[in-house]
Parts: sequence; C-alpha cells; structure tokens
Amino acid sequence: MPAQLLQLIPHPVAISHGVRLLLWRDDLLNPDLPGNKARKLKYNLAAARAQGHTRLLTFGGAYSNHLAAVAAAGRLHGFDTIGLVRGEEHTPLNPTLSRCVADGMQLRYLDRTTYRQRSEPEFLAEIQQRFGPAYLIPEGGTNALALRGVAELIGELRQHTDFDAVAVAAGTGGTLAGLALGLAEANYPARALGIAALKGAGFLRNEIDDLTRPVTGQPLVNYELHLDYHFGGYAKLPPELRAFIQGFEADFAVPLDPIYTSKMLAGVLSLIERGHFAPGSTVVAVHTGGLQAWAGFGQ
Ligand SMILES: Cc1ncc(COP(=O)(O)O)c(C=O)c1O
Repeated sequence: MPAQLLQLIPHPVAISHGVRLLLWRDDLLNPDLPGNKARKLKYNLAAARAQGHTRLLTFGGAYSNHLAAVAAAGRLHGFDTIGLVRGEEHTPLNPTLSRCVADGMQLRYLDRTTYRQRSEPEFLAEIQQRFGPAYLIPEGGTNALALRGVAELIGELRQHTDFDAVAVAAGTGGTLAGLALGLAEANYPARALGIAALKGAGFLRNEIDDLTRPVTGQPLVNYELHLDYHFGGYAKLPPELRAFIQGFEADFAVPLDPIYTSKMLAGVLSLIERGHFAPGSTVVAVHTGGLQAWAGFGQ
C-alpha cells in the first residue's frame, strides 16, 4: 500500500476555520484502475466471472474515465471489452479512446438519440443480440454492486482516522451513494458530501435514493449533494478552475483532475469558508483519480 494515502491539507481556509482537512489518495491505490474505478468494478467483475461471462460491455462519452477503466480491467482480468461511445467517431482517436483501444476494447458509436436508451431493457436486449452475450455495466459503472465496493472505503478510512464528513465528486452519484451506504451500514455518524461535476445535477438525488433504497428500505438522510461547484458544467475548465488546480498542486504537491476532484476540493474549501463545518471538524476529501482526462485537455 502506498505510504501517504491520507494527507493533511493545511490550507489557510481550513486552518482559519478550525477544520482538519484530509485528502484520501484513492487515486494512488491502483494505478491501472485508479480512484473509485477499482471499487466500482470489483464486485461487477466478480459477478461477470461467476455468471460465466467472457465479455464486458459498457457505455460512456468520448472522454470517459469509466470506459478507460473497463478497458484496463478487461486487459488485467482477461475479459473482452466493448465500449459503446456516445456520439460520432472522430479520428484520430482522442487519448482516452486510444488508450481503450490499446487495452483491447472494441469501440462502437451510438448517435445521441440511441445513446439515451442505454438503460432501457428492450434496448439492452437488442444490444446483447447484436454483440453477443456480455456482462453489461451501466454508464459510469454505477449499479448496486458498485455501491458495495465503494462502501468498503468507509471501513478503510476509519482505520486511519475519525471524521465528521467525507466528500467526493459526483458524476452519476454512484460513489456518493456507496459512501452514504457505507456510513449507514457502519452506523457511523459522519455525513457524505457530493460535489456535482455537472450543471443542473439535482436529478441525481432521486437516482441516489433509487440506488440506496433497495438496501436500506428508505432514502438515506446522511448525504448532501452540492450543486454550485460545477464551474460552468461537465468538462468546462474556466481560468479560475485552472488557476485553482495549479495553486493546489504548487502548495500541496497533489495533482487534481480537471473534471472531478478539482471541483470537489474547490467546493469543499468554499463550504469550509462559508462555515458549513463546525470548528474542530475533520473532513476527508477523496481523490478519485481521473488524471488521464488531462491528456484530452492538452489537445
Ligand atoms: C475521477 C472521477 N471522480 C469521480 C467520479 C464520479 O463518480 P460517480 O459517477 O460515481 O458519481 C468519476 C466518474 O466517472 C470520476 O471519473
């Protein structure tokens, strides 16, 4: 296990508000499947194997960290992989998709209207007919088994520290749901905070509740979803976010990705500044990886 998984972030905002801000470097745990990816895939890969599948099929946008992770997981664990990509093919392939192909993933493109059907049972049945039997992993890898894997992080964190809040970036909300579930199942009184990377992501609350309700019987009340730190929307990198990322790396020697963890940390620091956490609180922010996305921004 890498030495410095839990880092103190002595940011002046945290210090002046009496908050102990810690960063959990989930991005360092598994170089091939960094961050939340290994956790979300862990029980899905086990289920695929147990069900006798040799092929994984999943969905994602052209810059999806999830597609890259499924391709890498296929290479590492001996599955064929098919990635259904939203939109048209653009050549040369961007760095994310090039990496998927290098890891052996077959890419197929779905126009945006077709892509919208990606969760509909009839469409999924048709896909299975077209591509042959495959273990289906939804967009972003978010499903009940993914939550199981993410929930395990709570126990790992508790081996290192007590905490009052754990914060994570939210895309599909699966990682946030898994953390909230992990806290609830451990009966641990901390809150899970999600910082949405997308604009207008209020709909995620229903999705998170739909994901956790089958396990808990009722919606969890131990999580918060913050919608004000999307910096213009998914994959937008305005100068103030770029400056924040550069400053954070210069001050704390931690690289942040442009889509998720940067917004999460900017959001957490803003919440600290606004007095969201009582003095004396410990907040653990989770670095969920995503650094491969920079290759696309460099283009
Ligand atoms: C690096 C990174 N962090 C956070 C997230 C958000 O995870 P979720 O979709 O489970 O909300 C993603 C989603 O793909 C991601 O790639």
